[in-house]
Amino acid sequence: MYKPSSSHPITAPSPLSGLPEFSHLGWGHWFTLRDLEVATNRFSKENVIGEGGYGIVYKGCLINGTPVAIKRILNNLGQAEKEFRAEVEAIGHVRHKNLVRLLGYCMEGTHRMLVYEYVNNGNLEQWLHGAMRQHGYLTWEARMKVLIGTAKALAYLHEAIEPKVVHRDIKSSNILIDDDFNAKVSDFGLAKLLGAGKSHVTTRVMGTFGYVAPEYANTGLLNEKSDVYSFGVLLLEAITGRDPVDYSRPPQEVNLVDWLKMMVGSRRSEEVVDPNIEAKPSTRALKRALLTALRCVDPDSEKRPKMGQVVRMLESEEYPIPREDRRHRRARANSSEIESHRDFSDTDKSDNPDSRSESRRNPRT
Ligand SMILES: Nc1ncnc2c1ncn2[C@@H]1O[C@H](COP(=O)(O)OP(=O)(O)O)[C@@H](O)[C@H]1O
Ligand SMILES: [Mg+2]
Repeated sequence: MYKPSSSHPITAPSPLSGLPEFSHLGWGHWFTLRDLEVATNRFSKENVIGEGGYGIVYKGCLINGTPVAIKRILNNLGQAEKEFRAEVEAIGHVRHKNLVRLLGYCMEGTHRMLVYEYVNNGNLEQWLHGAMRQHGYLTWEARMKVLIGTAKALAYLHEAIEPKVVHRDIKSSNILIDDDFNAKVSDFGLAKLLGAGKSHVTTRVMGTFGYVAPEYANTGLLNEKSDVYSFGVLLLEAITGRDPVDYSRPPQEVNLVDWLKMMVGSRRSEEVVDPNIEAKPSTRALKRALLTALRCVDPDSEKRPKMGQVVRMLESEEYPIPREDRRHRRARANSSEIESHRDFSDTDKSDNPDSRSESRRNPRT
């Protein structure tokens, strides 16, 4: 259940403090195979917390007491040593409060492992459809908090760092959740890291069925707008509590995006909200989330918003602008105040997000 808490210390000690000095990298830690064997009780079965296309994930505990998630990467034979290290170091420098922190890595013989901070409150997939359901259902507010955090992480990867990082595998099981219901996006950079690898990995790198943008699925063409599409699917998943593709549903409801378009098109938006959400969102909040999601899954990748815009749409009390308001505003079209709300209009697809100041954008947030 969503209970915001403030039990966290203001300054947490570094997760790497107390580990041997000689193995500190510029940004993290170089672990030996032995270190990680000790941390995971020799990679024992009891410590396996997940198995994805990239490898097996173990829970572990470093000698300084820091809990970690260790990803043992499969199929690393084709991976050049130097390349792996260079890529990992590039990702290692990337820091954002909504990205899982990479603490270090291990490269020994054919072993390739990544060591992440351990995020202890499950992932969004488990909260929506799986193991975390026994803890209750996420409220609308908790869902929006997780989705806005995810959007911020993607905006950072796409727009704030150079070279930018396209995630390529945005899906609910890659959105980890902490005690305060902050989103921690995981597996970022991993797709890129392994992108040049062998076919086993490459097919997996294509993303996950149901989340993949049509142009990427059809042509393999990839840019950050594919992440925007996947984010739109994720948002629809959070709103409805439905899987992106669900064969147990009637034919017209199997594909989540198609069903949503149909429901919104026939003015049945109120019916799509996850019935497990006790306190229904306001019509306005629902509309804001739905319209944002539908813009993200636009079949034309050019028309999809950037992630920075998505953050602002989701955070703005003023999006979408009511119809009467829009007419009124247009009548005064040369005021700068109006300009500041342009891309919140659901009919306006202007793609110029960066010319506005934060305070004007979100007067009430
Ligand atoms: N840093 C982490 N902290 C806690 N759990 C994690 C962490 N990284 C991954 N996991 C768990 O391991 C699972 C498997 O990870 P992964 O191999 O990426 O597969 P997938 O994302 O396809 O489920 C994740 O879904 C998540 O629940
Ligand atoms: Mg994952």
